[in-house]
Amino acid sequence: MSPPPLAALLAPLAGLALLLLLLLAGPWRRRTWRPRACSVDLRGKTALVTGANSGIGKCVAVDLARRNARTVLACRDPAKGQAALDEIRRAAGNPNVHLRLLDLSSMASVRDFARRFLAEEPRLDILVNNAGITGGKAQVGTPHRSSPSPGQGVPGPAEPGASQELLQAEEESTPNSSPTSAEGLPGAASVEEVKLLFATNVLGPFLLTNLLLGTLKASAPARIVNVSSFVHYKGTVNVKFLTGEEPPKNCSQAYYSSKLMNVAFANELAGQLQGTGVTVNSLNPGVVRTGIMRHFSWAVRLLYNVCSIFMKSAEEGAVSTLYCAVSREVEGITGKYFDSDCSLVLPSACAQDPGVTRKLWDALEQLVDLRNGGTE
Ligand SMILES: NC(=O)c1ccc[n+]([C@@H]2O[C@H](COP(=O)([O-])OP(=O)(O)OC[C@H]3O[C@@H](n4cnc5c(N)ncnc54)[C@H](OP(=O)(O)O)[C@@H]3O)[C@@H](O)[C@H]2O)c1
Repeated sequence: MSPPPLAALLAPLAGLALLLLLLLAGPWRRRTWRPRACSVDLRGKTALVTGANSGIGKCVAVDLARRNARTVLACRDPAKGQAALDEIRRAAGNPNVHLRLLDLSSMASVRDFARRFLAEEPRLDILVNNAGITGGKAQVGTPHRSSPSPGQGVPGPAEPGASQELLQAEEESTPNSSPTSAEGLPGAASVEEVKLLFATNVLGPFLLTNLLLGTLKASAPARIVNVSSFVHYKGTVNVKFLTGEEPPKNCSQAYYSSKLMNVAFANELAGQLQGTGVTVNSLNPGVVRTGIMRHFSWAVRLLYNVCSIFMKSAEEGAVSTLYCAVSREVEGITGKYFDSDCSLVLPSACAQDPGVTRKLWDALEQLVDLRNGGTE
């Protein structure tokens, strides 16, 4: 394989250098709320965390399980999911933690997951949309992958066998089903990578949330939490990115925009859910030492690892998500964006503009064929 061009390496390196400067300059470790000091008990409640097998999602799931919630881990990889399930049950001392397979990049998988969830679970009190990727190559080779075709209706008909495969895989927990890892993620993303990124970070969570809205409303007061990022300020709500009509400049722009869309979608939904007892907020976890950069080139990962001594641990990075998911302080608060120190801050102006959020909502609704595909 030929080495990546210098320019492709320099763009992410410059981004990381900037990140390092910000880390050194900012009082980012300031924290006002401590999960361990919060006595909220979730006995009798059900929580669902996507991407719960690693990083922030795993720490969030451990905390929710410690609070005695029935905790459902929505993971795409059976082996990694099973390992996390064992670890979380052990760490939390709560056997009421369960693994369900979900590949957010496949709308068929999201529908299967929601169908099964609604059949099995009588309630849902907390939905944490945490799973996310920074680049798409990671999933090439994933058995459940069904990359949507933006512009042609993302979900399409349910893939025969996809759900069966998922459910069977859960039972069998095949050890070799890890996605093939990619070597290097150049600054310029391929169309496939971009489609995968938006499907995983935006379309999948949008569809999942909508399919579970009925049970969330019936369980109210309930909370929806979208894990976004401080980089959302640099994103654009461009629906043409979603349809593939216009490519983002590079992977960074795609990721930033997907994180902005997480906030915009949360704000739009918050307005729609006024009076239902279901709240929706989004947050920035901070700069957190997790596996999020694992698909970048070795050079970027090396720099990331050097910088990681200044970053938050995954447990620290889970704090603002938990603040939104369980704290008494956030009770009844909706349509807001919280910073990594749990302070309430204004998100990007785009995410607050009802014209923009509505337009995004309409595009997403059309792309996932929501009106024809709900399971409720
Ligand atoms: N780390 C940071 O500094 C940082 C900063 C701002 C925001 N965030 C956000 O925080 C969230 C969690 O990231 P993290 O830092 O904890 O990274 P991470 O350790 O890589 O966790 C990401 C999780 O998402 C899962 N996932 C990826 N694609 C999926 C798919 N198609 N279907 C279902 N699950 C999928 C991953 O599963 P696999 O293990 O199978 O890949 C993993 O469990 C993300 O939304 C990210 O954008 C992170």
